Amino acid sequence: MPLNPAYTSKTPGSDGLYAYSDEENAVWGELFERQITYLKTRACRAYLDGVDALGLTPDAVPQVTALNKRLTQLTGAGVVGVAAIIPQSEFSALLAARKFPVATFIRTREDMDYLEEPDIFHEVFGHAPMLTNDAFCQFLERFGTLALSLPKTHLKHLYRLFWFTVEFGMIREGGAVKAFGAGIMSSPAEAAFASSPEAKRIEFDLITVLRTGYRIDIVQPVYFVIDSFDQLVNVLGQDIEAAICEAETRGDLPPRFEVAA
Ligand SMILES: [Fe+2]
Repeated sequence: MPLNPAYTSKTPGSDGLYAYSDEENAVWGELFERQITYLKTRACRAYLDGVDALGLTPDAVPQVTALNKRLTQLTGAGVVGVAAIIPQSEFSALLAARKFPVATFIRTREDMDYLEEPDIFHEVFGHAPMLTNDAFCQFLERFGTLALSLPKTHLKHLYRLFWFTVEFGMIREGGAVKAFGAGIMSSPAEAAFASSPEAKRIEFDLITVLRTGYRIDIVQPVYFVIDSFDQLVNVLGQDIEAAICEAETRGDLPPRFEVAA
């Protein structure tokens, strides 16, 4: 079940289709229109091409089956409908199989601007377009495999790498810095801030990422910028366990946000 009891998990019919009401489709459409206009100049090419390749439109909440038909042809990736947030081991296993879990409920109008737990707008509008990029999928697959093989005590640090790339990553493109992280794509506030002069955007550095804590409920105080998706794939070719041990030994960097007392 979703964390917020106001939201009800959806289950597909025998045809694999999820039923969305007119109101739910309208919410999707409004969120889609608002964000896509904004992202045209702020999102990276791979993401915008992915939106087109998947045939995402404001007309209705996309169906898992339709997304998978296209993803299978493009990269062999796929999405799997889940009720809500799933255990980390299950999440990692899906990534290792080039599958991305998607919660299938959608927010209500009261939560148009912000919802702490991921809904289908975040999952599909935010994440799915990047699944059309093969290098990005390679990264996800290797990340999942690594997460399954590392001791559980290292997962907090490993998932910081996920957070600062898959969720809030930015990439240098044609002399500009563009977004590819799903948390930026699906949030009006984050999309506005990430590309503003006030945002702190720094070069991606594995040890720095591993030593950087984060909060999920604020606009990010720092974004890490990569040069290419191949760079991300190559990061996982390094000895990540050794890097995590180094990060643990050196300790976390001072937080750039207020820490609850
Ligand atoms: Fe996400």
